Amino acid sequence: MSFDAKHLLGIEPLSPLEITTLLDLADSYVDLNRRAHKHGDALAGLTQINMFFENSTRTQASFELAGKRLGADVMNMAMQASSIKKGETLIDTALTLNAMHPDLLVVRHPHSGAVALLAQKVNCAVLNAGDGRHEHPTQALLDALTIRRAKGRLQRLTIAICGDIAHSRVARSNILLLHKLENRVRLIGPPTLMPSGVADWGVEVFDDMRAGLEGCDVVMMLRLQRERMDGGFIPSSREYYHRFGLDAEKLAHAKPDAIVMHPGPMNRGVEIDGTIADDINRSVIQEQVEMGVAVRMAAMDLLARNLRARPAEVMA
Ligand code: NCD
Repeated sequence: MSFDAKHLLGIEPLSPLEITTLLDLADSYVDLNRRAHKHGDALAGLTQINMFFENSTRTQASFELAGKRLGADVMNMAMQASSIKKGETLIDTALTLNAMHPDLLVVRHPHSGAVALLAQKVNCAVLNAGDGRHEHPTQALLDALTIRRAKGRLQRLTIAICGDIAHSRVARSNILLLHKLENRVRLIGPPTLMPSGVADWGVEVFDDMRAGLEGCDVVMMLRLQRERMDGGFIPSSREYYHRFGLDAEKLAHAKPDAIVMHPGPMNRGVEIDGTIADDINRSVIQEQVEMGVAVRMAAMDLLARNLRARPAEVMA
């Protein structure tokens, strides 16, 4: 197995071979998840703690299900009601949890870099479930698996990522992964929603949907992440939809077999037309959710193998 990382903090440090190893294992978990009996034992005897400092529906549920299907004891910390609210620092919370000897810690945090900081303070494997606008590695991996299964390959594809790129950790992780596997990435959105420094990212940037979608294999839509906006980035939702919302007419500029993706949560009528989102011939949004569980099973399985190979460090 070509995967010897201790943590999964981002796509940035992963090699193309590590990414492919993880996706191949995830493929086998897709098969397991489609059986009536869905249990594996890769995480038997291990304790997984989910710490979500930001709201989440699908990511948290997906990690929980992934752990349970592989036999881990899974605990969800209710971070809204936790001691953090009483003034405890992130590090103190981490040290307290560490004393309970978890093996896998799944963390989502509103600040970029917070998950990596926490990983330095604990003995277990840490998985980043999204840190600020920095990275969301399991989302990029599940997107990659969805694309690979739909297109039969994950090379030499043209992928358009559309909308609020500036505030999106999903976009960042996807761009890193897609580039490592030699795909072409286009970013489409209003200049106010493009990150500063985008000129150095090795992508093509468009502010016109029709021009940007021309000839694309994959169209990935993003939500306007208003919780990370501190001012007026767009004139109005209506005008945004008119210019950047994905509808049938704009999608017609992409390749006839282009697939439509969205990490969720989706705002119908803002970044995407509901009919497109529900069109089973174009949209793979439900497949993304399915792949999410399999990818998280694979990620935790690989990290657990590495944990077991390093017993001295775990017990330190
Ligand atoms: C994304 C996230 O939290 O970064 N959602 C997800 O994990 N499925 C994207 C978003 O919140 O818009």
